[in-house]
Amino acid sequence: MPPPPAEIVRPLPVLRERVAAWRRAGQRVAVVPTMGALHEGHLSLVRQAAASGARVIVTLFVNPKQFNNAADLAAYPRTEREDAAKLAGLGVDILYVPDGETMYPPGFATMVTVEGLSEGLCGAYRPGHFAGMATVVTKLFTQTTADLAYFGEKDFQQLRIVQRLARDLDLQVEVVGCATVREADGLAMSSRNARLSAEARLAAPVLHAEMQRVARALEAGAEARALLAEATQRIVAGGYQAVEYLELRAEADLAPQTRAAVPCRLLAAAWLGGVRLIDNVAVARAAGSTA
Ligand code: PAF
Repeated sequence: MPPPPAEIVRPLPVLRERVAAWRRAGQRVAVVPTMGALHEGHLSLVRQAAASGARVIVTLFVNPKQFNNAADLAAYPRTEREDAAKLAGLGVDILYVPDGETMYPPGFATMVTVEGLSEGLCGAYRPGHFAGMATVVTKLFTQTTADLAYFGEKDFQQLRIVQRLARDLDLQVEVVGCATVREADGLAMSSRNARLSAEARLAAPVLHAEMQRVARALEAGAEARALLAEATQRIVAGGYQAVEYLELRAEADLAPQTRAAVPCRLLAAAWLGGVRLIDNVAVARAAGSTA
């Protein structure tokens, strides 16, 4: 027997009926927002949502408001049938696939902006991206009335923005961050990896390897500045065309840091073979440091 597929729901009123029935039965709701092109990283979020015991909704919506480049939006893979097949047997109750009119009806005029956290890092290179993301995530939270929402740590700035918006807007959702899933050579799983040429794919792991090297040196008490400059050169020497940013930020609020005096994240975005890759690694507080 093939594993049971998730029900595909497109109209919002039908989603609301299903959720209302779950609520009447005293059940909780977990949501995993996606733009499709699902890979093992997404599936690990789905497994964690299913393990919560709540009803599980995976959302699939390629959100035009978070693309700052029309060509990037047009090229984004649309693989609903394959995505639905990958979710079968994982305990997903509903695959919610709203259309553009449902998400942005004519006259739509409201955007959610999370100040501070959305500036810098990816926000500096993708104008409007985080406001578009925060707007659609807020809508998905209110449409699903989720109690729990699962986001990958790979998009660490996104995770912190979503946690902040849930808190600031009094949304009754717990935003759960889930560890990045990696290929055997350390490359963080991403829908974009499929666009790497064979040659670029071979060079790709140098980004994570360099970040790990820097993280260990920071944990040993080193200053960030020279380490980051050297790692940037090594990433480019390893085959990347450019490093957009490689920065040390506080884990809790993404404030810039010069050394690991508090628990930190090292975050990077870099271009390889015309593909923009992002990654981040945790940096423990350096032993003996005073915050
Ligand atoms: O991480 C993503 O895939 C998207 O930013 C999200 C959270 C589904 C919102 O469109």
